[in-house]
Amino acid sequence: MTYDADTGLLLLDTPHTSYSAYVGREDDIPIHTYWGPPITAEDAAYLATSTAERLASQWACFRSAANRHEEYPLDGGLQFGRAALSVEFPGAVRTIEWRLARHEITAGPGHQELALWFEARHQELTVTLYYRVYDDSDVIDRSVVVRNDSTTDAVDVHRLDSAAWVTPEQPRHRMTHLTGRWAAETQVRRTDLTDGHLVLESRRGITSHHANPWFAIDDGTATEESGRVYSATLHWSGSWRMLAQRELDEPAQVLFGWGHEGFGPRRLEPGEVLKTPVSSGLFTADGFGAMSHAWHEYALRHVLPNSGELRPVLFNSWEATGFDVDEAGQRALARQAADLGCELFVLDDGWFGRRSGDQAGLGDWWVNTGRFPRGLKPLIDEVHALGMGFGLWIEPEMVNPDSDLYRAHPEWTYHYAGREPHTMRHQLVLNLARPDVAEWVFGELDALLSANDIQFVKWDMNRPFTDTGWPEQPDRQGRLWLDHVTGVYGVIDALRRKHPGVAFEACSGGGGRVDFGIMARTDQFWPSDNTDALDRRYIQHGFSHLYPARTMSCWVTDLPTFINKRRVPLSYRFHVAMAGVLGIGGDLNAWTAEETEEARRLIAQYKEIRHIVQHGRLHRLGEPGRSASAVQYVTADQKESVVLVYQEAQQYDSNPAPIRLRGLAPEGGYRVDGGAVLSGALLMGHGITPQLTGDYASTLIRLELLA
Ligand code: GLA
Repeated sequence: MTYDADTGLLLLDTPHTSYSAYVGREDDIPIHTYWGPPITAEDAAYLATSTAERLASQWACFRSAANRHEEYPLDGGLQFGRAALSVEFPGAVRTIEWRLARHEITAGPGHQELALWFEARHQELTVTLYYRVYDDSDVIDRSVVVRNDSTTDAVDVHRLDSAAWVTPEQPRHRMTHLTGRWAAETQVRRTDLTDGHLVLESRRGITSHHANPWFAIDDGTATEESGRVYSATLHWSGSWRMLAQRELDEPAQVLFGWGHEGFGPRRLEPGEVLKTPVSSGLFTADGFGAMSHAWHEYALRHVLPNSGELRPVLFNSWEATGFDVDEAGQRALARQAADLGCELFVLDDGWFGRRSGDQAGLGDWWVNTGRFPRGLKPLIDEVHALGMGFGLWIEPEMVNPDSDLYRAHPEWTYHYAGREPHTMRHQLVLNLARPDVAEWVFGELDALLSANDIQFVKWDMNRPFTDTGWPEQPDRQGRLWLDHVTGVYGVIDALRRKHPGVAFEACSGGGGRVDFGIMARTDQFWPSDNTDALDRRYIQHGFSHLYPARTMSCWVTDLPTFINKRRVPLSYRFHVAMAGVLGIGGDLNAWTAEETEEARRLIAQYKEIRHIVQHGRLHRLGEPGRSASAVQYVTADQKESVVLVYQEAQQYDSNPAPIRLRGLAPEGGYRVDGGAVLSGALLMGHGITPQLTGDYASTLIRLELLA
């Protein structure tokens, strides 16, 4: 990466892309000029000059030539669109003009970082724009730091985005994004940006089931295998906003950041510093498939901890026993789970406090002695003796009004003085923006993990924020949306440091908290409470656009699920769950001998192929719901591949058409399922024809490259 202080030229190079901008000579406004395949420094200089000339030549009555081209639009001045940074200074002044004070390029292991320090010309405020590029990824990380340099006056930050991403001027800007709701997360949607704004956001305090913080923009022609795609995400687990703005003939500019308007500004005290989460952007030239590969590799190399490990096959008690958990019942399930080949036994909700349903107990993290008279130890010991790790469900950000914790500390919840707060699922949100509450939560969980030999924690969060008051500290009310999340991050980070052998699963009523911010401190996601195998295919399809299979926890459960009343063969349910980190969530006591035998065989098979699924490259071969579609995984050395093929419904006596594979060595010979040897060229050019008949038919095909 280079920044030339004389010319103001910025050029970032990643292995397969370049990104350039220049800092305007008079106003120091950084203007975006290029993002795409690699260019030279001379090209970047030409673009800076020609863009500056072009913008200067535009008739400037009623318009600001810079709008939509800024690297980071500021409130005030000639900004007529939405700003990435909006600060209110004393006297209700909201305009910033800045001067580039200095820049610095630093190098770390495998990456370089550029910092541009801007100082407000008329106020005491420093804004630093950070850019990071990696040796092994085309992802560019951006973040912003704001410092109030005044020694006397506070300022109010109304908006502080992590980045503005500018995509080129092109006739069409088609946006792909992930929408959904509880039990229907990560549904892929495509929509054209029209002139005006498109806002995707969460105003719920969590990442949300309803929109995932990610978008991809193409010119309307990109496919899975071809086309230029611009995409970006945000490493943040609370409320967020993505705002795309576009006007006639202009580039699309997408602002991406935390928080949301309408709940009061974040006050920045004299001398205080505020750092945004990272927003990562990516340009790829070869369609949505290549885009996902780049995101997955970036996530595994630079976000997910311990990404090189193989995640174990877990059993989870939730759908088997609900709240009805006790020592004898769980021990019986543990024996069955071990017999199937499970490697981790997770005791879900119901083990603590006076919890016999969802009305009571959250906040009381002591073991329910009615259900576990001798504590958890006998169960944990048996689970360990069976050769499995032990995991526990917790929901630390919550409290039921019917709990000892709430009776002792009603003021620890978000609420407005004198008003009854709204419960959802009979629970209230604890104010983790309060350091004393965050400390208490850490203390409870630390004690739990210290007293019990636990290998896995499922961290749940089952309702959005409402009634977000903090009566004792009304001045801090505007910041709780940010501070709650940093409070959660702080607790998990401290627990991980103190208990490095414990893995964490991020869950929020399923996929309400799936994002790169929480991914950096957990080991896997629970993508949805919906375990209906057909619905799950759609959820997993959307999930795979950004998130790797290594993070996607999937359970095989019983029929019918509590969501749909569909009946689906056990093999199809397994093949769907084997597309990620396999788990079992059914009531094993009720499984027949045949089902148990089939499950044992499929779990054993999963263990043989999981290194390919969890660490290989994922290819989406078609979309769920079509006559037959598949997901394929290929190891980095192209020696092994697994294809999971699904046919949801057979029609008109037809058989599936050949499915063309991807990512193989064309000249290599692959043994298919231990039988015929076919060339990579044939498998990719013509495809394989799966033998599938009937509805919810599925198969797993293994390919091995011959030496
Ligand atoms: C949430 C989770 C489920 C389960 C229940 C327990 O809904 O997503 O998996 O843990 O809570 O109450």
